[in-house]
Amino acid sequence: MLPGFPSYHSNGYHSPSPLREPRNKRGRYSSRGRSSQMLSSYAFPLSQVQQSPADRTSSSKWEELDAAYFHSYSHLGIHEEMIKDHVRTETYRAAIQQHQNSISGKVVMDVGCGTGILSIFCALAGARKVYAVEASEIAVQANEVVKANNLSEKVIVLHEKIENVTIEEKVDVIISEWMGYMLLYESMLSSVILARDRWLKPGGLILPSHATLYMAPVTHSERYHESIDFWRNVYGIDMSVILPLAKQCAFEEPSIETISAENILSWPFVVKGIDCYTVTAQELESITTRYRFASMLRAPLHGFAFWFDVEFSDPATFPTHFNSFITSGSSTSTHLSTQRTNLANSNKKLLLSTAPEEEPTHWQQAIIYFYEPIEMTQDQIIEGSITLSRSMENPRFLNIHLEYSSGCRSFVKESILR
Ligand SMILES: C[S@@+](CC[C@H](N)C(=O)[O-])C[C@H]1O[C@@H](n2cnc3c(N)ncnc32)[C@H](O)[C@@H]1O
Repeated sequence: MLPGFPSYHSNGYHSPSPLREPRNKRGRYSSRGRSSQMLSSYAFPLSQVQQSPADRTSSSKWEELDAAYFHSYSHLGIHEEMIKDHVRTETYRAAIQQHQNSISGKVVMDVGCGTGILSIFCALAGARKVYAVEASEIAVQANEVVKANNLSEKVIVLHEKIENVTIEEKVDVIISEWMGYMLLYESMLSSVILARDRWLKPGGLILPSHATLYMAPVTHSERYHESIDFWRNVYGIDMSVILPLAKQCAFEEPSIETISAENILSWPFVVKGIDCYTVTAQELESITTRYRFASMLRAPLHGFAFWFDVEFSDPATFPTHFNSFITSGSSTSTHLSTQRTNLANSNKKLLLSTAPEEEPTHWQQAIIYFYEPIEMTQDQIIEGSITLSRSMENPRFLNIHLEYSSGCRSFVKESILR
């Protein structure tokens, strides 16, 4: 999901910031943790909120940020990118087919329908009515697509923010593709929570039903050489005085890029498991967890990778992998992949995974690089804590506070996914 346009560092790696300039990447905005101020502007029409002058300034700022966010989704390019991500789109379609019994003859709400693709999949699966809600201008196109496919009787496109929609009935199913980079960037899950609390019937279905954010230590010498060591010898000229700036430019912000299983130094750790049937917006304001990894290899540690998966289950079903599994033994990432896939399959659950060992998606992985690598020996421990919270700068951005220590050295890195 990120609308937007590319903003590239000088090194060519992508840093999400759809608010700032046009780009082709889905500029998934933001943090899914949020300030109380933002929550109120989301939850109620602004006119109903009693505001101090300071609040009014904030509100108009949030409105502007929101307008920019929805503007980025009015561009067709971002929708094309998402639809062409066949891992994403086919998994949603498979989930709709798998839950056809719960959808056929029922009322569905699609939160953020974009071009209308998921709404139409639901209509084709037999939904009696689909409320396709979309705040950006792409809603106009969605409506045309619905008409052209003779589905206007069933699919009702509402060109509005979900927060402002009025419908007179409860729904049986809520579907939404809300996930941002690092899962929580873009802060769209809170809109799904609002829709769930206002309109979902007791026992209703939410697709996806569960989400899990993972982190793992990463070694990536190639990347470090390409962006940093490059300055040591530029056409025979020693430019190493530029190194501090090069590190800042390359690694200050999280980097969205595709890595492979070979880059991962240990089993992943669950940063946050989310049950979409029960999660609250407040729970997403700030997430802190402690982690501990033992390196499986002797290798330089360059930072941490983050990725997520989502699952499509009934309300009653227990999620398959909300357990934190911490480094142990010498298992490889291939084993990890097989295990996770089997876990999902054995329970007949569909998993949309953005893990490095899986087929790449447009979400790629988010990497927080250290300014200085740490030389790890096999079984050496790296531990610390990670806090993800909504940014005050823009509630769709994600503030990341990372603490890490190995041996007797400790570090803190602050960054913003913007
Ligand atoms: C990631 S896109 C998914 C589009 C489409 N469902 C798909 O799968 O291709 C998310 C869409 O949700 C819309 N959106 C985000 N927050 C919304 C809100 N609060 N109300 C209505 N639409 C919203 C965005 O404008 C964007 O078009």
